[in-house]
Amino acid sequence: NDNINNIIDHKLFSEDDIHQMCVKLGKQLTTDYAGKKPLIVGALKGAIFFLTDLVREMDVKAEIDFLDVSSYGNEMESSGKVKLVSDLATDVKDRDVLIVEDIVDTGLTLDFMKELLKKRGAKSVKCCVLLNKEANRKVDVDIEYYGSKVGNEFVVGYGLDFMNFYRNLKYIGVLKPEIIKLVNNK
Ligand code: PRP
Ligand code: MN
Ligand code: MG
Repeated sequence: NDNINNIIDHKLFSEDDIHQMCVKLGKQLTTDYAGKKPLIVGALKGAIFFLTDLVREMDVKAEIDFLDVSSYGNEMESSGKVKLVSDLATDVKDRDVLIVEDIVDTGLTLDFMKELLKKRGAKSVKCCVLLNKEANRKVDVDIEYYGSKVGNEFVVGYGLDFMNFYRNLKYIGVLKPEIIKLVNNK
């Protein structure tokens, strides 16, 4: 059956939990970016849900742009190689850049983006991440702002996908183990 709620073992963060995290982070960012006209960079595709909610909690004059980077493709685990699929339209030179991400796992994607934007002459490069998954970290990348830590579970919803589906769940849940097994056996 194709009902998207059926693939969830249990809920981790409800819509209200997510909203509270956005409010809290938005307040911090409003203070820290006051007067800076930051460029907010969303990492496609996972970050778009979080970005749109987060920026509406920021009372800051900001620009928004997107980078499409991908390391997973349709795989369960990171390939270890990050690809720049589609670039920003904005020049980041001398800008205060805030990268928005849904999740940091190995850290490879975030590290790739941070290094790229620094190389291009950004004045500052920080990030705001909804979920910080530390168990599989491969590169030591600074995470200036995050909503919550998560354990080593496969989380989906609110932008986070499994084989590119289930991003449109309103909440964040843990995938049923049998769903993962189905794929691993193929
Ligand atoms: C996922 C996620 C992060 C990244 C985190 O993106 O949205 O961007 O992986 O993993 P890492 O810390 O191990 O690099 P993905 O490459 O699946 O693309 P998507 O956002 O389009 O789903
Ligand atoms: Mn992503
Ligand atoms: Mg993905």
